Amino acid sequence: MRNAFDAAELAIDSFVHELPGVRVVFGTGTIDQVAAEAARLADSVLIVAGRRQACEADRIAGALERRCVGRIGEVTEHVPADTARAAVDVARDVRADAVVCVGGGSAVGLAKAIALELEVAIIAVPTTYAGSEQTPIWGRTEAGRKVTGRDRRVLPRTVVYDPALTLGLPPGLSAASGMNAIAHAVEAAYAPDATPITALLAAEAVGAMSAALPVVVRQPGNLPARERALYGAWLAGTVLGATTMGLHHQLAHILGGSHRLPHAGTHSALLPHVVAYNAGATAARLAAPARAAGVSGPDAFGAGLFDLAAATGAPTSLSALGLPRSAIDDVVRQVVAADIANPRPVEAAGIARLLRNAIEGRRPGDRVAAHRVFA
Ligand SMILES: NC(=O)c1ccc[n+]([C@@H]2O[C@H](COP(=O)([O-])OP(=O)(O)OC[C@H]3O[C@@H](n4cnc5c(N)ncnc54)[C@H](O)[C@@H]3O)[C@@H](O)[C@H]2O)c1
Repeated sequence: MRNAFDAAELAIDSFVHELPGVRVVFGTGTIDQVAAEAARLADSVLIVAGRRQACEADRIAGALERRCVGRIGEVTEHVPADTARAAVDVARDVRADAVVCVGGGSAVGLAKAIALELEVAIIAVPTTYAGSEQTPIWGRTEAGRKVTGRDRRVLPRTVVYDPALTLGLPPGLSAASGMNAIAHAVEAAYAPDATPITALLAAEAVGAMSAALPVVVRQPGNLPARERALYGAWLAGTVLGATTMGLHHQLAHILGGSHRLPHAGTHSALLPHVVAYNAGATAARLAAPARAAGVSGPDAFGAGLFDLAAATGAPTSLSALGLPRSAIDDVVRQVVAADIANPRPVEAAGIARLLRNAIEGRRPGDRVAAHRVFA
């Protein structure tokens, strides 16, 4: 037993802690509880599910019986404004008082677009690790620009996590989506409004996801690994909703909105470099997540995340996702102009270097391009 602690180890920074009350139903087979969960909240339910989730939507519609008043079977990434308007019209026409959304962040995003305009409760049934189901954050793409905001009305009332629904998520998408979840947890760890509870959740999320992902990609049908990954995604989504994201999310937002890069893959290729950029400025906050990922410490965390992405087949290069070097100046200009809470000041030369490394797919800390190291 230790009997001497120094004051810095004992101190607790001041904080304000508030987690929204989202009801969570977790477990394999819980898709069969969706109708009962919806019935607790509403009489008329609209189902939103993309084509890949049509079977799950059929099953839920059957169980809802007469409570199911309509279905939207098409969802698009980043919620185009006209798609959002059309969905609101449908929900108004069928007089829905709840929306059950089944799918990834895109399906949840469309349900949120409806809840922003009409008084509907959202019951979310996520099938990726994006985490949107736990946040009051909405997004919409209008005239080529992604607009986001926070509004309590879009926060789902109930989330049903059925890991069996993720068994069909292909290994590549699983890995990228898992890295997306880890990015939420990492930025939550050093967020200005982190609390002791969000810090615990963030480290637990990183540990769960980094343990599960290698198994998930080797054996996509491994249910325990899928359960652990979805549990990690829940915690990561929770801290995404509860804290203020920093440089990483701002860069991902610019790359997705202005440069049309895919959401989850962009997070994967960027994260190791943002962690390497920030590590020196926030080592104490990154120690627990780094440990949870099995990495020796914050200095090695960026390289460790790069290795996790490479080992699971998640993107490690922004150029492979379609970002040319010629885009660097525009991204730097936008990110420097943004008002970001980040542990290290956001300065142009450092961000340009970060982007160059991420475009070329270098392992943080290595001097040569990663594909040469791994070839
Ligand atoms: N508001 C928030 O808090 C928040 C958080 C995270 C992401 N997002 C948004 O969510 C979107 C990205 O979400 P995403 O990464 O989940 O992608 P997505 O919802 O677009 O899904 C990606 C692809 O995977 C398919 N898919 C989903 N689940 C599947 C499954 N179980 N099996 C097989 N295929 C499946 C989908 O049909 C789609 O083709 C972006 O628009 C992003 O901005 C919002």
